[in-house]
Amino acid sequence: MRGEGTVRDLTCTGPLILVNAAHPLRAPANPELAELEGGVLLERRAAAALRACLRAVGGTSGILPVSGWRSRPEQQAIWDDTLAKEGQAFTQSYVAMPDCSEHQTGLAIDLGRRQENVDFIRPYFPDEGVCRAFRLAAPRYGFVLRYPAGREAVTGIAHEPWHFRYVGPIHGEIMARLDLTLEEYLEELRNYPAGGAPFRFSTAEWECALTYLPGGVGEPFRLAGQQGLLCSGDNCGGVVAASWRSTGR
Ligand code: DAL
Ligand code: ZN
Repeated sequence: MRGEGTVRDLTCTGPLILVNAAHPLRAPANPELAELEGGVLLERRAAAALRACLRAVGGTSGILPVSGWRSRPEQQAIWDDTLAKEGQAFTQSYVAMPDCSEHQTGLAIDLGRRQENVDFIRPYFPDEGVCRAFRLAAPRYGFVLRYPAGREAVTGIAHEPWHFRYVGPIHGEIMARLDLTLEEYLEELRNYPAGGAPFRFSTAEWECALTYLPGGVGEPFRLAGQQGLLCSGDNCGGVVAASWRSTGR
């Protein structure tokens, strides 16, 4: 038997992990962090993708990273402070309980339009100008709008136009094009277990085949001419394997 906490379970790690009230982090994520502006920290690959996306949309000077990786004590302090100042309904809408916040994974970033007074809990990120350009380009760089309007019952969190989650470019584009939240996407992928037909998706630039591995066990479907196999846990007891190849266009 594996000693609890000594071997990191593959189902609990990777860019697709679902962290919410129903699926808390079971162990500290310990991501490798990189520093953005103002001491804001983000997982290394997510930080590089964020910088690239901001550069691509000309957003480096107009968009400010407000909050990235948070430790558990920090998330607890944010919860306590918001509860004291704003009350329970507001806090439950906009702040995740400690261990239920994806900020603790280093894969979530709150962004705000650069201005004098930036609200730490609800930064201003309008659907116009450079902020809109960022939102539209983000999936291509691996970021999705994690808490969209109209999906509050699915995510358990109010609409947060400022909160983006890194899932990687392949999953980001699929989720955005199919308009799926992370909860909905992972639920859909569970219909494609190893041994059966994979979930297939293609863009003008790449194609992929996704397999769901319950318990992280099983053989992923592999595309002929596969150029990469990306695996990530879902923090719900499984692993998603993505076989991909470029279409060469
Ligand atoms: N604002 C998001 C839900 C968090 O606290 O993780
Ligand atoms: Zn956030």
